[in-house]
Amino acid sequence: MDNNRAQWSSKLGFILAAAGSAIGLGNIWKFPGRAFEGGGGSFLLIYLFIVIFLGMPLMLTELSLGRASQTNIVGTFKKLGHRGYSWVGWLGAAGAFFITCYYSHVGGWVLRYVFSYALEPAEIYQNPLGYFYNMLGLHPDGTTSIPWTALLFAAAFLFLNAIIIIRGVEGGIEKFNKIGMPALFLLLLILLVRSITLPGAGEGVRYMLTLDLEKVSINTFFSALGQAFYSLSIGMAILITYGSYLSKEEDLPRNTALICGMDTLVAFLAGFIIVPAVFATLGRGEIGKGGGFAFVSLAGVFEGMPGGSLFGVLFYLLLLFAALTSCISLIESVVAFLTEQFGWKRKWTTIVLCLVMFLIGCLYTCTQAAVPLKGIWFDGVNGITYPPLCDFMEYLTDRLIIPLCALGCCIFVGWVWKPESVIAEIEQNGIRFRLAKVYTVLIRFIAPAAILAILLLSFISGVTLS
Ligand code: PHE
Repeated sequence: MDNNRAQWSSKLGFILAAAGSAIGLGNIWKFPGRAFEGGGGSFLLIYLFIVIFLGMPLMLTELSLGRASQTNIVGTFKKLGHRGYSWVGWLGAAGAFFITCYYSHVGGWVLRYVFSYALEPAEIYQNPLGYFYNMLGLHPDGTTSIPWTALLFAAAFLFLNAIIIIRGVEGGIEKFNKIGMPALFLLLLILLVRSITLPGAGEGVRYMLTLDLEKVSINTFFSALGQAFYSLSIGMAILITYGSYLSKEEDLPRNTALICGMDTLVAFLAGFIIVPAVFATLGRGEIGKGGGFAFVSLAGVFEGMPGGSLFGVLFYLLLLFAALTSCISLIESVVAFLTEQFGWKRKWTTIVLCLVMFLIGCLYTCTQAAVPLKGIWFDGVNGITYPPLCDFMEYLTDRLIIPLCALGCCIFVGWVWKPESVIAEIEQNGIRFRLAKVYTVLIRFIAPAAILAILLLSFISGVTLS
């Protein structure tokens, strides 16, 4: 084993960091909106099914690959003896890079909202949508300008990330997660109690517990699948990097089950906080999605609560923790690759990388409302389209890079490195992998077929996965 590589100093450190990577804006910002759209209880069931049968085997695969190779994402594919597959690592690194460009900016908006709820909640309550767009440079009188405030907060958010990463895996990431993750759970529990005891919240809770099969369509499956991959941090080879810091004594299947369990628990908690709360305060019709969901619709929720702006601050702090731990994993994975591949210094690599990510991310924030730059896209229903650049950036990662990289991992492990090697990696030190046979079938046939289906269908039918 390469002695120069960092290792997690404790079992808890790794679990918290991997769970920290998984639990992020995806769980709290995206999941509740998707669960609502997908029919509440029915979506939850399908999501659970996908996490168990596709998410867990893929996570186990990435962790085993990393631990077997003890190197970065590109090196992994070369070191395990198959140069022809290093494109999977490059794709993962590219995916992590592009996601960070915009993820860090959304993290910046979250930081902005912590201050907004602390300093000027009345201004948000007065016009939640107007406040959000004003931050993004579209003003109530219809004029636009460069969204300096949002950009400044994104810079601050990336700065925070850089400091934690420069301090290294044990010094920075582990310590940060040990405080951040339990704090996050605690905050979620407080908000859960607050939310489900609001008058009128019962209808929302019932909605989240009801199986309404009429609402289920093929789209629900694709939405749940895309959400599960994104949420578990699969398909960007992030977990290969994290697995490479893991000692040979660890029980990988147990860790996988724990991480997937925690990630899903947080997503479900967020769903049971946000959906009932919005039912209680706004009524069904006005429930928002995406940006609107986390930044706009919730304003009505906090406004209607006693001590609402305090809960607002708490909520955005929670989202900030979650976004930070995920963003750190994204940057760390690119930094680990660059420093090992090219022998660059960790500190300067991190600084330059964060700067470049910030600059590219500015395009994401600016094209939300203020600057009309476009990207280009294609699907079988709409042909060639020119979506706003910000949407294009998300399509590129969510619809193309993540599924392709996940598919590459499945094919590499299923047919080249072979499931037996994964099983051997897992079963060192007397650990027994009881589901080895099931795993082999899933990783060779079921997972690649399902991923290929989303990839193709998102292009053929224009299914929305972002
Ligand atoms: N899983 C994180 C979330 O749910 C996002 C993420 C994706 C982080 C991919 C790392 C890699 O927000």
